[in-house]
Amino acid sequence: MEEFFKDFHLLQHPLVKRDITVLRDINTTTEIFRAAVKRLSNLLAVEICKDLTLEEIEVQTPLEKTTGFELVTEIVLVPVLRAGLGMVSGFLEIIPDAKVGHIGLQRDEETLTPVQYYYKTPSNIDTAKVILLDPMLATGGSTSEAIKYLKRKGANGTVFACLVAAPEGIKKIQAEHPGIQIYAAALDRELNDKGYILPGLGDAGDRTFGTL
Ligand code: PRP
Ligand code: URA
Repeated sequence: MEEFFKDFHLLQHPLVKRDITVLRDINTTTEIFRAAVKRLSNLLAVEICKDLTLEEIEVQTPLEKTTGFELVTEIVLVPVLRAGLGMVSGFLEIIPDAKVGHIGLQRDEETLTPVQYYYKTPSNIDTAKVILLDPMLATGGSTSEAIKYLKRKGANGTVFACLVAAPEGIKKIQAEHPGIQIYAAALDRELNDKGYILPGLGDAGDRTFGTL
């Protein structure tokens, strides 16, 4: 794990680098793309959960009683539609009892501003640790809008998990939402004039759902 920006956590692991390469490759099929997104989501979930609060409990093994632990913190996953949906199953494998909200945002390809079309979040959003999921942090407009909504709903323990982050997006989130922790599997160079991340992986939603 390396820190390039304040509150930005870049996963450093050979398996992460291997799977990001799979995602970048134009020849990767939809099936293989989804599988790599899932594995990366597993690894992000493990990293994000490493400081969760535990409570000691007693557990009876087949041989004797001993001390065990259970998680105190409730987790709410909030994927940003569509592409964030691809990360949900990988996170649920690691945090099976997490509740799941949804935020529907579509980036207007002309103006690059996010347009909202759906919101639904569970009632414990104000007390839970909220993990916002979207594979791409490009201009940061969609993520910033999603965080604004979560704040309006009372969420205060939000972290953001993405696969590929651009410096422009990180800076926007840090300026508009100081203190939000960003976890990413790759930090890319820049955006092109259409707001796509370079080198990137193309349109994450289209590649996840085969709508190219
Ligand atoms: C993509 C991506 C993010 C957004 C990132 O979604 O999944 O939500 O773009 O760009 P930004 O940081 O400049 O806002 P898109 O709007 O293409 O929708 P989709 O997931 O339905 O394809
Ligand atoms: N959204 C994507 O899916 N890809 C990008 O490179 C930028 C925004």
